[in-house]
Amino acid sequence: MGRILLNLVEFLSEQMSHYNLTSKEHYLNAYQDSMEHPEKFWEEIAEENFVWRKKWENIVDWDFTKPEIKWFEGAKLNITENCIDRHLETKGDKTAILFEPNNPEDEAEHITYTQLSERVNKFANVLKDHGIKKGDRVCIYVPMIPELAISVLACARIGAVHSVVFAGFSATALATRINDCDCKMVITADGSYRGAKTIDLKGIVDEALKSCPITTDVLVVKRINSEVEMTEGRDKWVQPLLDSASPICPIEIIDAEDPLFILYTSGSTGSPKGMVHTTAGYMVYSAYTFKNIFQYQENDVYWCTADIGWITGHSYIVYGPLANGATSVMFEGVPSYPDCGRFWEIVEKHKVNQFYTAPTAIRALAKESDEFVNKYDLSSLKTLGSVGEPINEEAWNWYNEKIGKENCPIVDTWWQTETGGILISALPGITKCIPTFATLPFPGVQPALMDEDGKEITENNTNGRLCIKFPWPSMARTIWGNHTRYKETYFTAFANNYFTGDGAFRDENGNYRITGRVDDVIIVSGHNLGTAPIEDAINEHPLVAESAIVGFPHDIKGNALYGYITLKAGNYEADELKAEINALIAEKVGPIAKLNKIQFTNGLPKTRSGKIMRRILRKIACNESDQLGDISTLLNPECVEEVIEGAL
Ligand code: PRX
Repeated sequence: MGRILLNLVEFLSEQMSHYNLTSKEHYLNAYQDSMEHPEKFWEEIAEENFVWRKKWENIVDWDFTKPEIKWFEGAKLNITENCIDRHLETKGDKTAILFEPNNPEDEAEHITYTQLSERVNKFANVLKDHGIKKGDRVCIYVPMIPELAISVLACARIGAVHSVVFAGFSATALATRINDCDCKMVITADGSYRGAKTIDLKGIVDEALKSCPITTDVLVVKRINSEVEMTEGRDKWVQPLLDSASPICPIEIIDAEDPLFILYTSGSTGSPKGMVHTTAGYMVYSAYTFKNIFQYQENDVYWCTADIGWITGHSYIVYGPLANGATSVMFEGVPSYPDCGRFWEIVEKHKVNQFYTAPTAIRALAKESDEFVNKYDLSSLKTLGSVGEPINEEAWNWYNEKIGKENCPIVDTWWQTETGGILISALPGITKCIPTFATLPFPGVQPALMDEDGKEITENNTNGRLCIKFPWPSMARTIWGNHTRYKETYFTAFANNYFTGDGAFRDENGNYRITGRVDDVIIVSGHNLGTAPIEDAINEHPLVAESAIVGFPHDIKGNALYGYITLKAGNYEADELKAEINALIAEKVGPIAKLNKIQFTNGLPKTRSGKIMRRILRKIACNESDQLGDISTLLNPECVEEVIEGAL
């Protein structure tokens, strides 16, 4: 009897706990509480669901004018104790990371929580042996193999700040990121597999390090067994070091607001921005959103197809799932290798319950024969997710019908590198999923739409610029080394608000639909690309006088890049020059930023103050040159006609 009563109390308190949202009513209550009593709301979430070495003195302290944001100040913790150690007693044999290699013939690796603990501890000891200590920055340039997650967690264990750079970036992009935050160490691999190709990662690191004087150590994971050059005194194979390292590395006790990681994102101008995420708030928010937005239940197998080089992988492959003791699939390969059924083969093989991917992948796979899907049993799927860019209705319908069999809610999750976690999304089975809408804000999130004069729009059924009025725990705290830029980019356009850079529409029920960027960031295949760095790369070509990049709609990539380029006088062969320009972009920015269309022009339309009128160029690239509006105030209206005539 006593036992039954105890179970009942446990059951009821679980129902009441805002950590585990189980119904629409529960969500609405939680949302209301989070608005009316944010401190009490977050205190309960933090207190009941995480391990703290010392409790906070303050829940939240914020001032968007400075801007300064602190969550759980005074608290002490270690995120790896929350993601690993606390699960060991009850879930030691449970798979934490399920690694699916590039080659389907190779065996998947089930890394249990106990094994993960051992591997992270050993790696942390190797870092310490190399002089890495709390606060040091470590660059991780590793493909999607277990050592990527392990080295991330090893840094967190000793309080080193990880800066993961997507292992598809060029040597120049890597060097910029290493230098920006002074990484003493780089962790990499000899190479990586990507479908049928291999990539010489170590060669890229060697090239990058020619201009990184601060880096003194390179740890190399063996993945493809290629011959690589090892620079004596600097480069070491990591495996022998791990073999002799102790499997016990006590946690470093970290302050709530100590940085956990830096992750770079493109801006509309200048160099990439090193977004700084701190420890406690990020942990609480990524774990809480993971639990609810994927409705993760014990023993589910969850798969996010992103790369850990992006924020989605940080929050929803590593930290969020592991903080909940989940099984998180990590996939090394690409959706089209060995054929376009690979994703679905993996879903069947590992009985995946939650599947989270990007619209660009959905669109690419939807173009292929349905046979690639129908061959596999997808009945394990319960929830589907989408992230990174607006998902168009056609892709949504295909995902819903062919993958979800009209039986799986699709959560269209809106968020950013800067936000650390999902801010707007449906909760599967709880709130309504609406095609092309991210729908409702998560508890604690206060969105606002602003008009062009900076006034909040309170009516529904309107478009506006999307801002957030109140801090949430996982927001980035600054841009590494440039707090002024942080303030100018996010807190200046709309006083006392965080400005997202996105436009949005709100319907009569308060559902948000993200309409796209309102700045000069273009999202290509889910990757944020600032126009300025690409234009800088193009302008380095000796024949180029000036250039402007805009986006235009593309069936699979969502957007593709259109470059208008004015040349200096000289002789050139157009196709050769186009290839040279794209090679330059691939080298300086990365292959993802190559232009789909290049138009050579004699001049670009400019305002009287000399600014290139991208709005006009965008319309021309989108075949909307009949909607240019008034161009008479331009400095050089005559060049518009010429650009239209030459349009591709
Ligand atoms: O424009 C929005 C778009 O991606 C931007 C953030 O990109 P990034 O920092 O790379 O993070 C991507 C993964 C979180 C946003 O400003 N975006 C992201 N998710 C969505 C989206 N646009 C529409 N719908 C989404 N679900």
